[in-house]
Amino acid sequence: MTAQLIDGNALSKQLRTQVAARAQALQAKGITPGLAVVLVGDNPASQVYVRNKVKACEDAGLHSVLEKYEASMTEADLLARVEALNNDARIHGILVQLPLPAHIDAQKVIEAISPAKDVDGFHIASAGALMTGMKGFWPCTPYGCMKMLESIGYDLKGKHAVVIGRSNIVGKPMALMLLQKDATVTICHSRTPDLKALTLQADVIVAAVGKRQVLTADMVKPSAVVLDVGMNRNDEGKLCGDVDFDGVKEVASYITPVPGGVGPMTITMLLVNTLEAAETSATKAL
Ligand code: GUN
Repeated sequence: MTAQLIDGNALSKQLRTQVAARAQALQAKGITPGLAVVLVGDNPASQVYVRNKVKACEDAGLHSVLEKYEASMTEADLLARVEALNNDARIHGILVQLPLPAHIDAQKVIEAISPAKDVDGFHIASAGALMTGMKGFWPCTPYGCMKMLESIGYDLKGKHAVVIGRSNIVGKPMALMLLQKDATVTICHSRTPDLKALTLQADVIVAAVGKRQVLTADMVKPSAVVLDVGMNRNDEGKLCGDVDFDGVKEVASYITPVPGGVGPMTITMLLVNTLEAAETSATKAL
């Protein structure tokens, strides 16, 4: 059997068209949704990511500001920039690209972002809202994964979902989102002794480790749904995920490719969050 692809580019196109229409409706009321993207240092991957985020904003009719700073920027100066953006009425979403240089306390910077503008969903107020099922911004990558499951009409109720990876950005929020949809969730990580024994029981697997070939065909139950969050390079320098795509696609019922899977969805959900931040602020301003 060959799995069906969940096409992140196609789904993103659909969702971004909806974002553009909603942005236009706000525009008609004199409000342009605005995102500030802050990049500190010259991490090459981060430079590509922020460029893509800014371009996606422009394409959807959102206003975006890219602020680039030297790696030597002090923590105090960055905190001051975040505070200025918190107070800037044209900016509805603030994204500080991670990783930050080692001399800056990333969590402290994230906590300085106003929760109303935390479109990355990394602030503890956003994390707490997700944990308790209250309204708040969801981190974009796991949110995109949920949209992908929704797009295939997948009902998570009573299903066993295995998340591989426990990061604050993907693994932990992913597990909470799956739980909220009534899945039974297992979180696996580098200290899990027998990963295969667990993944073989899974109806849904999310691989979010950042390492190639973490999930191979022998670890997947026939007809499982496999979402690949990984973004790695193979020996030929080609982009690849955490999943052995060629092997696993013969076992799974659905699979996300890399590239063209979860990656574009992350940016799409950032646009959705930014738009929602602008809509909320517009309602409050009335
Ligand atoms: N670095 C890698 N992924 C992300 C993300 O989604 N948001 C931010 N701010 N930094 C990242």
